[in-house]
Amino acid sequence: MLRHDARGVMLSRMAAPLKDSRTIDELIADYRPGFALEQRFYTDPGIYELELERIVHRNWIVAGHVSELPEPGDFKRFDVERESAIIVRGEDGGLRAFANVCRHRGSRICLDESGSGRQFACPYHGWIYGLDGSLKAARDMPDGFAVSQYGLKPVAFDVIHGLMLVCFGEQAPAIDSCREELARPMAMFGFENLKVAARDTYDIPANWKLAVENYQECYHCATAHPEYARLHTLMLDVNKRPRVQQAMKSRMRDCGVEDIEIDRIDTAARPGEIGYGYRRTALFDGYETGSRDGKPVAPLLGELKGYDGGASDFSFGGFSFLLAYSDHVVCYVFTPVDHGNSRCEITWLVRADAEEGRDYDVTELTWLWDVTTQADKQIIVNNYEGVRSRYYEPGPYAGMEYAERTYVEWLLGELRRPL
Ligand code: FES
Ligand SMILES: [Fe+2]
Repeated sequence: MLRHDARGVMLSRMAAPLKDSRTIDELIADYRPGFALEQRFYTDPGIYELELERIVHRNWIVAGHVSELPEPGDFKRFDVERESAIIVRGEDGGLRAFANVCRHRGSRICLDESGSGRQFACPYHGWIYGLDGSLKAARDMPDGFAVSQYGLKPVAFDVIHGLMLVCFGEQAPAIDSCREELARPMAMFGFENLKVAARDTYDIPANWKLAVENYQECYHCATAHPEYARLHTLMLDVNKRPRVQQAMKSRMRDCGVEDIEIDRIDTAARPGEIGYGYRRTALFDGYETGSRDGKPVAPLLGELKGYDGGASDFSFGGFSFLLAYSDHVVCYVFTPVDHGNSRCEITWLVRADAEEGRDYDVTELTWLWDVTTQADKQIIVNNYEGVRSRYYEPGPYAGMEYAERTYVEWLLGELRRPL
């Protein structure tokens, strides 16, 4: 419905109505498949609260790698929105997660991002907790106060082939089939035997969904990411992709890479289970890994015997995405900070025995995904500004946005699913 004003300037469709009295259920029912989400999904605080309950805190999120906490007493904090967990290796060598909320009057206990110690002391009134979460001491409490009843609350925690996962919800999704099915691809890249080489946090002043949606599609790669577009073939015309994909597959066997593809992203038929996936995609001919010049930036991972010129995408639960090149892994975790702010944490992992300076250089290792994420941050913010305009109206997805479409449909399915 195009129209012109008196000066002949073309106006697009009527501006979206400012008042929309539809309920969330009605809004979801009105979703037009193949189109972007309506504005209220990015602006309505009620929808955001529902997302926290039904999507964010009903999912496992990658909280790091076990190698970050090698010794008893080692801990790290893991925050998602208003929730915070302390992940700690106990005296018995086991890893656990506890709510970072004091059982006295609720203060955060652990303020450090990571560290090592024998106990946690609340900074407010000094209650002392052990590495197993139990309350050890509380000053001047009345007679009859039972320390045994005031231990830290546990947070759902699991480890899958070296990756630590946290879920802040009451009922964490089932994860066993994910653990089983991803065992082979994760073993190929030696996930249990990695270490963190670098980590960076990108604060994005935009609703979290736009950040994840952007990660799902490579329609924008040709325009926004000249560095990435030199290496990665995801933005290639579908007719041209089979040739480069086939060239990589012919190298895979000699390089020790099995040809595996797993697609369990859509959980509609398996409600209450984690969504996950795995696939390997070719880089352009001549590129061996995701680096400035395509040359190796770290020692080969796991069982690999050579560079097949591929990059594997792992996805876990809708917030955590890992990209395994032959010599390093890039782990992306997107989380909301509040309604209009999100965070993207990137961790670069290399083989555990790789030595900085000798085997890898952090600047070279991180170059590609740092420059790409800086660009992503800007386009996500541009997107957020536009979707809040009264002139915003959901447009149709391009064919290359197939994964974003699947992701949005998964989001709506989770929003519909009762607690
Ligand atoms: S709130 Fe932690 S000791 Fe009081
Ligand atoms: Fe991007």
